[in-house]
Amino acid sequence: MELLTSLEQLQAFNQQRSPQQTVGFVPTMGYLHAGHLSLVKAANQQCDLTLVSIFVNPSQFGPNEDLSAYPRDLDRDLAMLAEYKVDYVFFPDVQMMYPPGYKTWITVQELTDTFCGASRPGHFTGVATVVLKLVNLVRPHLMFMGEKDYQQIVILETMLRDLNLPARIVRCPIVREPDGLAMSSRNAYLSETERSQALCLYNALSLARMLYTAGERNITILKAQMTALIEQSGGKPDYIAFVDKDTLEEVESPADNTRILLAVHIGRTRLIDNASICDNYR
Ligand code: PAJ
Repeated sequence: MELLTSLEQLQAFNQQRSPQQTVGFVPTMGYLHAGHLSLVKAANQQCDLTLVSIFVNPSQFGPNEDLSAYPRDLDRDLAMLAEYKVDYVFFPDVQMMYPPGYKTWITVQELTDTFCGASRPGHFTGVATVVLKLVNLVRPHLMFMGEKDYQQIVILETMLRDLNLPARIVRCPIVREPDGLAMSSRNAYLSETERSQALCLYNALSLARMLYTAGERNITILKAQMTALIEQSGGKPDYIAFVDKDTLEEVESPADNTRILLAVHIGRTRLIDNASICDNYR
């Protein structure tokens, strides 16, 4: 495993690689967990070379968000990656990605205004910009991303298509703790009480799926049931949305291709999760 920390080292990687070798890229903000590692495993299986980036991207954090508190531990991350076949780890610093005078930003219209984009203005511009920069630097064939960040995946797929970039995204399923909580670096913020409250995201999704399977098609009722469960558990819903799984447009009446997206505040921590409304779609 080779650590690349400068643009020169990344250029050397690009010069050395043979055109026959497929490169699988796993972009992350570090503080790795089993969700990230599932992406590394998938890249190992599908590509000749695996490159993981670790970069806490300041431009996707709002002024009152957790940029400085975001957990960072490179040694721990490298030790976890050493258990897998990772060929390169790209670990740029902020100066390298955003040198003085940096002025270019990527906007993916409409898709970035709703749900997490509405609660976190500018967030997806930061995400799209850093991922486009990383794709230009790494030039991967496949990029492995988690459905945990469902809106992010749809936005980035749109960006790659609209800008005629050759890289493709491989969507990987959400990895959960044994009790159902979706793995997230932000789970590290939760106290013991909050950790048990946080299960309300998964429980609310499971409840909606169960009601849908039992025949409930009224979104107002489905949302009210989910809200009640979340509030009884001590959570504060940010949004609950029933959307078309491809366009992310909100639906009036749920169908098998509906995806449920939600964000919930647990104490000072904001967590997200999502699920297909039924098992006909993953
Ligand atoms: P980060 O939150 O570190 O996530 C990196 C990748 O891991 C994303 O594709 C995310 O969807 C995936 N992931 C996180 N938790 C997961 C889980 N429980 N199961 C499966 N996959 C999971 O997402 C980002 O970083 C950043 O926005 C980034 C794309 C790196 C741009 O800065």
